Formats: sequence, C-alpha cells, structure tokens
Amino acid sequence: MKRKTFLIRSFSTLAGIFAVPTINLLAQNPSQDQKNKPLIISTWPHGLEANVAAWEVLKENGRALDAVEKGVRVTELDPSVTSVGVGSYPDSDGNITLDASIMNEHGNCGAVSFLQHIKTPISVARMVMEKTPHVMLAGEGALQFALANGFRKEDLHTDFSRQQWKEWKKSNKIVPIDLHNHDTISMLAIDNNGDISGACTTGGLAFKHPGRVGDSPIIGAGLYVDNEIGGAGATGVGEVIMKTLGTHLIVELMRNGLSPYAACKEAVMRAVKKVPDARNLPVYYIAVNKQGDFGAYGTNTAFEYAVYTENKGNTLHKADSVF
Ligand code: GLY
Repeated sequence: MKRKTFLIRSFSTLAGIFAVPTINLLAQNPSQDQKNKPLIISTWPHGLEANVAAWEVLKENGRALDAVEKGVRVTELDPSVTSVGVGSYPDSDGNITLDASIMNEHGNCGAVSFLQHIKTPISVARMVMEKTPHVMLAGEGALQFALANGFRKEDLHTDFSRQQWKEWKKSNKIVPIDLHNHDTISMLAIDNNGDISGACTTGGLAFKHPGRVGDSPIIGAGLYVDNEIGGAGATGVGEVIMKTLGTHLIVELMRNGLSPYAACKEAVMRAVKKVPDARNLPVYYIAVNKQGDFGAYGTNTAFEYAVYTENKGNTLHKADSVF
C-alpha cells in the first residue's frame, strides 16, 4: 500500500476509534481576516489527533510550548503513523533514527538528530533546550543525554516496520523521495497569552542512508518561531527544505508584511526556482502570524493540514499548491 494511502486509511480507522472533534475539509486559505487565539495548526491528517492533545493544554490557559510538545507526542507514540516516532520506516540498515526540534516564545530552541531507541524525541529536544547550553545533540550523545535524564531505551519497531524493511531489503533499491514517504508532523500554537511556540518531529525518509538527517531538527529549515512575528513549520523532502531554509524565510517574509499564506507560497516558489527537481518533490509549509492568521502551501495537491480554533473546532484543510 502506498504510504500516504496507508496513513489516510489508518487515520480513517483511528477516527472511528477515538473521539475526534468535527472534521471538515475546508476551502484553501481560510484564515483571511480571522483573529484566532488560541490556535493550533499542524501537518497532515494525523495532526487532528495531535491537535486534540495540544488543545487540552491551551484551553486550560496553558503555554503554547507545552501544547506543541504534548500534541506531537501523540503522533510520535502512534505506531500506525509510519513516518514519526514509534513504528517509523527504518534506515537502510534497519535502524529507526529520529529527528526533532522545538522552539519557544523566547527564541530558545532545542533539537535532536539521529536519535535511536527513544519514543518521544520531541521531549528530549525540549530537555536539550532547557537543560543544556546547546541547541542540538546528535546520535549516541543524544541517546546518552536522554537516558541520563530519565528516558527509557526501547525498541521502536513494529511488526509493520520490520516487515517493510525486510521487503525493501530483498531488492535493496534506493527508494525515490516521493509523495509517500514524507509525513513529518510540524505543529505551531498560539496560546491565550498570544505567545507562539512550535515543534517538529520525524522518522525521516524511508530506508535512508544511515546517518542521514533531514530538515526537521534544523532550526530555520524544519521549524522557526519569532514570537514578535509568527512561526512556520515544514514537512516534505528535507534536502530541499534545508537548501532554502524555508521556515526562516517564511518568518522573514511575514516580518516584511506577507500573510502566512503568501509567505508559505513564496517559500515553495523559492524552492522550485532554486533547487533542481523541487517541482517534482513534496515540499509543504504551514505558518501562523502574531495576529492569528494562518496559511499553508505546497508543491503539489497532496498536502492537508489540521487547524484547531475556538470557533471552528478541529478541522482538516487542503492546501493550495504550485502544481
Ligand atoms: N521532512 C523530514 C525529512 O526530510 O526528514
């Protein structure tokens, strides 16, 4: 089964099991002139479940930082999401290696990359931000830091991830970077105080080269927040997003007056202009500004994102795209 199809089917099944608030497929660019606070926006249909957990924090007047951490942990712990946390597609050696980053309203940030055996890398990223003078820890160092701070070393494989790797190993073919193997969750939240934070977490590209790290833990690529202006998150091919530092670009474009929608569109257009082949690859952005407007844009029509507001509940939106 193609990966995205699998995810959408998984979500349909999950939607029957869990109580998901109203899910509407809304028209594109729906946030014009709306002033939403609190607000959560996250990538893909799996963002709906994550938004529910994040909303629990915001509705109790909690901090956006706590909301995004709690929200994306839902996706990290969901074994049916094969691109984030537990049950992610492994690398070509059969190891699940995870990347994550988090950024708060004070411009502080933390990240982990090439982290193995930890179910919730976003919480390790937060601990890097709060307990060390560093921004990113990688690989064995990140694992040792996590273990020293109370995280448990666990097997992140599921029967499905093992079976998929065995299947892939038979042919050992390089998996093309395509629509079906990039489904990172990025989440941005504005709390009742008007403060913005963001989180981004992924298992990265299926059957990637060992050691490959994508955009998700790179501040300014997979995630960027400036509490004066807004925030942006990415999903899609990290190699393209890193070459254009898409989320930092979006925040700077918003600083210069663009709406979140227009800024996301410009960042996608920049990728298409500057990176050969970007037009054939999935590259998607979400963004919010300080006023509570939100937007999204992608290279193709596959991208959906989830938005939770007081007025409209938890809704799924289809993003506009270049192609
Ligand atoms: N956007 C996730 C990755 O490329 O790893």
